[in-house]
Amino acid sequence: MASSFGAAQVLVASNRGPVSYEVREDGSLHAKRGGGGLVSGLSSIGPDAGALWVCSALGDGDREAVRRGVGEDGVRMLDVPADVHADAYNGIANSVLWFVHHMLYQTPVEPVFDAEFRRQWASYEAYNRAFAEALAEEAAEGAVAIVQDYHLTLVPGMLRELRPDLRIGHFSHTPWAPVDYFRLLPDDIAEQVLRGMLGADRLGFLTRRWADAFTACCEALVGGLGGTETGVHGLGADADFLRKRSHEADVDERMAALREEIGEGRRTIVRVDRTELSKNIVRGLLAYRELLATRPEWRERVVHVAFAYPSRQDLAVYRDYTAEVQRVADAVNEEFGTAGWTPVVLHVKDDFARSLAAYRLADVALVNPVRDGMNLVAKEVPVVSEEGCVLVLSREAGAYEELGEDAVVVNPYDVSGTAEALHTALSVPPAERAERSKRLAAAGTALPPARWFLEQLRALQG
Ligand code: F6P
Repeated sequence: MASSFGAAQVLVASNRGPVSYEVREDGSLHAKRGGGGLVSGLSSIGPDAGALWVCSALGDGDREAVRRGVGEDGVRMLDVPADVHADAYNGIANSVLWFVHHMLYQTPVEPVFDAEFRRQWASYEAYNRAFAEALAEEAAEGAVAIVQDYHLTLVPGMLRELRPDLRIGHFSHTPWAPVDYFRLLPDDIAEQVLRGMLGADRLGFLTRRWADAFTACCEALVGGLGGTETGVHGLGADADFLRKRSHEADVDERMAALREEIGEGRRTIVRVDRTELSKNIVRGLLAYRELLATRPEWRERVVHVAFAYPSRQDLAVYRDYTAEVQRVADAVNEEFGTAGWTPVVLHVKDDFARSLAAYRLADVALVNPVRDGMNLVAKEVPVVSEEGCVLVLSREAGAYEELGEDAVVVNPYDVSGTAEALHTALSVPPAERAERSKRLAAAGTALPPARWFLEQLRALQG
């Protein structure tokens, strides 16, 4: 048995990895490194220390890289057949598990768990098995493996069977559904998900609320947590990185361009999201519309800078949502815009430098998801905003647990309440705004990514 062990002491597994490849016109491969908490967390350990990241090949470029044997140290990309990945990622992970945890179904007609669902579920199992097998192959004896998110809920149980010697963790970056909603899933599937996760020694969540919801599901459906521990690790923003990156030349350039679009002396309400159903972008726009309708004193004096970047465009419901965001933004501009004032500046092309420029200019940050695991934008804007910003924050975002006291809190479904919250936020006097923003920045950066990751690693190493 000893001869079948691998060399990695610390392993991370996730659907999306730290690098992606693009085939250029001349046939060469171009590698693009991703950002995000997990990337900076794992790079604090690095391949030299025997850390390995197992992830999926996601597009043609990634598949070509695997085929050509091109790769980065410390990363192993799995070339799962494209149709299996599509069923697992689009069909199950994003259309079922994401919908359950974010409570997104229109329940009079959805969900429908039929033969097609069962077919896709088999792909989800195969996808999870491919990860479990790769981890089992790469892990050194007694190594730690931390599996990420709802794409890979079955991996801990599968890996436990293959390699009982490992310390296995799983971290959920999403909310966890309350029992009654989780039970929308067919009984055997709900049980399989819970038992799969309970194969881990330790399960991490972003907030106490999500950890408690998971525990409640286990108590109701599988008789409790067994020997598995749960832990809460509220991933924070990376203050050092943000402060430095937001003052680079490309951000300055974007800021000048944005200032032109906004116009002299106007306040800004900033939001930056993936165009994601749970982010509640449409109700945010409707609330802004209501602000302009009911508080005419703000007309010409404020601009809503809304960045809604493409996400999961293989799914029709996301494409429709993207179109709806555009339609409502256009309608607000049509209704209230004047020759010198565009009330909503909407950008849909992903541009990180421009996001940071908007953060710097933000007077108000609007973060109103219907449900969100954490929401890092809520934690990032106060760090970067130059004059300090007032945060309008949904009570359904995980970030609410840490930032609620210094934010203007909203019920995300209450459009009129959100309009009023925007008015309140715009009216906060500058000194109070700066103070609040400072406290938000401190709370939002309390657990930076590298520490967030190390905390979990230490807890697993015991
Ligand atoms: O947990 C949610 C999450 O996986 C985040 O880590 C990430 O921001 C987002 O979803 C990205 O989704 P996708 O990989 O589908 O683009």
